Amino acid sequence: MTGIAIDGVSMVFTIPGGGEVHALNNVSLDIKEGEIVSVLGPSGCGKTTLLNIVAGFLSPTSGEVQLNNHIVKGPGSERGMVFQQGALFEWLTVSENVAFGPNMAGKPKDQTRQKVEHLLQIVGLGDFGEKPVYQLSGGMQQRVALARCLANDPDVILMDEPLGALDALTREKMQGLVLKLWEETGKTIILITHSVEEALFLGEKLIVMAPRPGRIEKIYDLPFARQGRTKSPRDIKASAEFVEKREEILSMIWEMEEEIMGQATP
Ligand SMILES: Nc1ncnc2c1ncn2[C@@H]1O[C@H](COP(=O)(O)OP(=O)(O)O)[C@@H](O)[C@H]1O
Ligand SMILES: [Mg+2]
Repeated sequence: MTGIAIDGVSMVFTIPGGGEVHALNNVSLDIKEGEIVSVLGPSGCGKTTLLNIVAGFLSPTSGEVQLNNHIVKGPGSERGMVFQQGALFEWLTVSENVAFGPNMAGKPKDQTRQKVEHLLQIVGLGDFGEKPVYQLSGGMQQRVALARCLANDPDVILMDEPLGALDALTREKMQGLVLKLWEETGKTIILITHSVEEALFLGEKLIVMAPRPGRIEKIYDLPFARQGRTKSPRDIKASAEFVEKREEILSMIWEMEEEIMGQATP
């Protein structure tokens, strides 16, 4: 199939001083091309580990990931990453950051300049190309990170809590931008988040993970990301259907957190 097939992936970390961490246990998941998937779960349930395996930064202890019918054996330019903090090059301008990938790949300068301008327009930074990134707010830096990722034209965008460091209002606006990019580019997106509301709003598919060992607890198919094309985010988030799902998932996560705290108590 085209898209991503995660098949029986387990990951056991060996701790240097002794002992093992079962970060993922037998995780299987199919993600269709062009789908937007959110991953939610308490800290330590293996979200980042799973994303790093899909990215090819880590090899699973067992199982495999296929991308468009090819087994993932390492990182590749068809998979782009966006981190919680932009991981931008502080000493470069906004445009230079976005142009970095195409320049490294030796793409023609003219073509890259046009592409960068276009992407900066899309993320609402049309007038900021010449600014050094350290002058930008956190929200703007994440816009640059999104544009920089898109500049490499990946098939798949992997995001690890990309909006986690932003204030509430900026975060809501950025959720709208992620949906817009998804619609306009047709990319496959996997987005990790701590926020139940964000996971519901952005995931056509929402994966709830549970810890110890890290595993998939439940998968939801949701209408809200597609509703974002025609309805306002506030209306969607206030709808009875949304609120009901939010409470259901909050209780589930709450119980997991309680269990973790219980285990942590001597
Ligand atoms: N390189 C590593 N070595 C040992 N343990 C690790 C390593 N990376 C992650 N872990 C452990 O694996 C578990 C899952 O981590 P992680 O994927 O970062 O969780 P999440 O992103 O959901 O918070 C945690 O218990 C974490 O401490
Ligand atoms: Mg993480």
